[in-house]
Amino acid sequence: MNPAATFSLSWSATRRLLLACVLMGVAAMAQAQTIRYDATTRVFRIDTDAMSYAFGVNESDQLQTLYWGARLATSDALPAAHTNEGNVSFDPPASTSLQEYAGWGGSMYVEPDLKLRYADGNRDLVLHYVSHQIKGDTLDVHLRDIRQPLDVTLHYVVDPATGIIGRSALIENHTKQALTIDSVAAASWNLPAAEDYSLRYLTGRWAGEWQLQTRAITPGNTVLESRRGSTGHENNPWFAIERGGDWAEDHGDVWFGALAWSGSWRITVEQGVLHQVRVTGGFNPFDFAWPLAPGESVSTPVFYAGYTSGGIGEASRLLHRFELAQIVPQHPKPRLRPVLYNSWEATNFAVDQAGQEHLAELAASIGVERFVMDDGWFGARNDDHAGLGDWVVNPKKFPHGLKPLIDKVHALKMDFGLWVEPEMVNPDSDLYRAHPDWVLNFPGRPRSEGRNQLVLNLARQDVRDHVFKVLDDLLSHNDIAFLKWDYNRNWSEPGWPQVAPDQQQKVYVDYVRNLYGILAELRKRHPNVEIESCSGGGGRVDLGILGHTDEVWPSDNTDPFDRLSIQDGFSYAYAPAVMMAWVTDSPNWVNDRSTSLDYRFLSSMQGSLGIGANLLHWSPQDFAAAKKYVAEYKAIRTSVQQGKLYRLLSPRDNSPHAATESVSRDGAQAVLFAFLHASQMKYPYPRVRLQGLDPDARYRWRSLHGAPVAGTLVEASGAYWMNHGIDLALKGDYQAAAIVFDRVGGKR
Ligand code: GLA
Repeated sequence: MNPAATFSLSWSATRRLLLACVLMGVAAMAQAQTIRYDATTRVFRIDTDAMSYAFGVNESDQLQTLYWGARLATSDALPAAHTNEGNVSFDPPASTSLQEYAGWGGSMYVEPDLKLRYADGNRDLVLHYVSHQIKGDTLDVHLRDIRQPLDVTLHYVVDPATGIIGRSALIENHTKQALTIDSVAAASWNLPAAEDYSLRYLTGRWAGEWQLQTRAITPGNTVLESRRGSTGHENNPWFAIERGGDWAEDHGDVWFGALAWSGSWRITVEQGVLHQVRVTGGFNPFDFAWPLAPGESVSTPVFYAGYTSGGIGEASRLLHRFELAQIVPQHPKPRLRPVLYNSWEATNFAVDQAGQEHLAELAASIGVERFVMDDGWFGARNDDHAGLGDWVVNPKKFPHGLKPLIDKVHALKMDFGLWVEPEMVNPDSDLYRAHPDWVLNFPGRPRSEGRNQLVLNLARQDVRDHVFKVLDDLLSHNDIAFLKWDYNRNWSEPGWPQVAPDQQQKVYVDYVRNLYGILAELRKRHPNVEIESCSGGGGRVDLGILGHTDEVWPSDNTDPFDRLSIQDGFSYAYAPAVMMAWVTDSPNWVNDRSTSLDYRFLSSMQGSLGIGANLLHWSPQDFAAAKKYVAEYKAIRTSVQQGKLYRLLSPRDNSPHAATESVSRDGAQAVLFAFLHASQMKYPYPRVRLQGLDPDARYRWRSLHGAPVAGTLVEASGAYWMNHGIDLALKGDYQAAAIVFDRVGGKR
């Protein structure tokens, strides 16, 4: 072909070409658009690379979920929403149609999202579509009751990278009457009707958090909740639902979600009469009542959810990525977690300047980057009976204040962190003696103590201001880089007698909003300060608190074997970067179990490494080993904390093995941790097949501890390690290995 011919197009051909280019551009833009509305069918569509979500306005003007699952083609025009015809008179359309956000009114028998009562006794609410706005990756849909100007705005925010959608609701009373909200959810997630769903969720208790539960979803409701005033150890506001029930790590349809709320919460998983599954989550309606005067409004927390066809392993990885990119305070690029030392298990309350300085010297000698002094440094705090609330440095323990210790820690090239528990008070404290009315209480009733302490009512403005000032002063007058923010009991007698009776139950929300407000303002005024959320271990871990804190303490249980299943459970919902894991003493205080220092280090290196042992008891060999592990951890922590986690062998169900693999985001490094709890019947350790490597790249392994069996290839393709796998020479009880695979130049 004559090259000149390409330039000799007629004017009409040129116009056709230009038009084609424009149309292609428009098509490309449409392709890239995450949220679309089709005015003809009245269908909303949210599309990300791997997921589509759709709902429409049906002929009754109600919002109805149409689809949630694997990505559909952009050209697939979804038909308009039509109410389900129901099932004779007993199951009418309002209950059998998948309402996107249902008011309790009309013939509604499924879990409503919003239930209210007006001052005149009217309790009927039927929400109809009014209008919407799409702005970038957000969508607001306005609904209004069919008779009253009671307005609901549903807010959707989409993360295109993970397909995770955040949903919340704003309720506005534009009527002339006062009303009370009895229950309000952030959102309901409707799954396609099917009979073979199963549910996973996390339960626990103090020192036994993060236990993964699995149950078939059958007709009826499963309620996950906390009535405790905070997130709680007992249930965590996370769920995953799988179709088929085999829960493979690497394939299968999984819908998952997490509620961003640190107060009393509820998630209800309901299978309706036609096998529709609905997951409704928000404030716990138990003991809840929110008055809305004319002109007032209330907003809900955000309920996040996503879908993947890549199995529960991919669901976790999507959540991990989302948390680091969208939720944690330093998102989208959080700093790596430093290796820290914490004094708690070494000294308990017996802290003083000389003792802490000595520990700091020892910690620095193994490469620790952050030294944290735990409980006991303030007021008359020599045990858990007194002093909480009096945030003044104890003059006997620290005659010159905290400065000499902090200076020493800095001279040792570490930053300094401090334990606080700002929401609590011991009755034996100056604060309580001055302000006995500051705690949650019902007048004239007992004040139940937990760990000898009461809960300050943070919903009160004066209490909120006091707590903020105490912390602001502490951070302004001391060079503190980190707060371990503890919270060591749940609520009792949640009275707020200073406000009108109809306002008192707002305490469940106002308390948490003020907590978030304090954390946000402190971070703003002290931008270099990082915060850990702790609540007697893992009692306050959720996407709400993670919006304000950089890491969490998953459990007070530091036994490295128990930790394997605690960490495994944690990993279903939360990123390894936020999971603090300390190396502590052996035998462990929890269960007297003895384990080697190697085992303890490898167990803790699966998350953000910390040391919590009494270093005064360590031998020179222990220091040498610890120094080596800390240095090695620093070389792999980007992969561990911010990479992709693959759960290879599960420690659950009394399995004698556990293994995880962390692959760096660029695929250049993979770290394999493998644990053997007890050798049995001379069986070899199961062959471990890696995941997430580049099949065409070559990887060479090196050992941090333990080794593959003799004769193992030193270097091979990603395909080899993933398909053939690696055999580890692990034998005995409580043994562990860590093998690092580094990508080497060239393809296979
Ligand atoms: C809680 C925490 C511990 C420690 C103590 C201090 O139990 O979970 O790590 O900080 O309080 O009293």
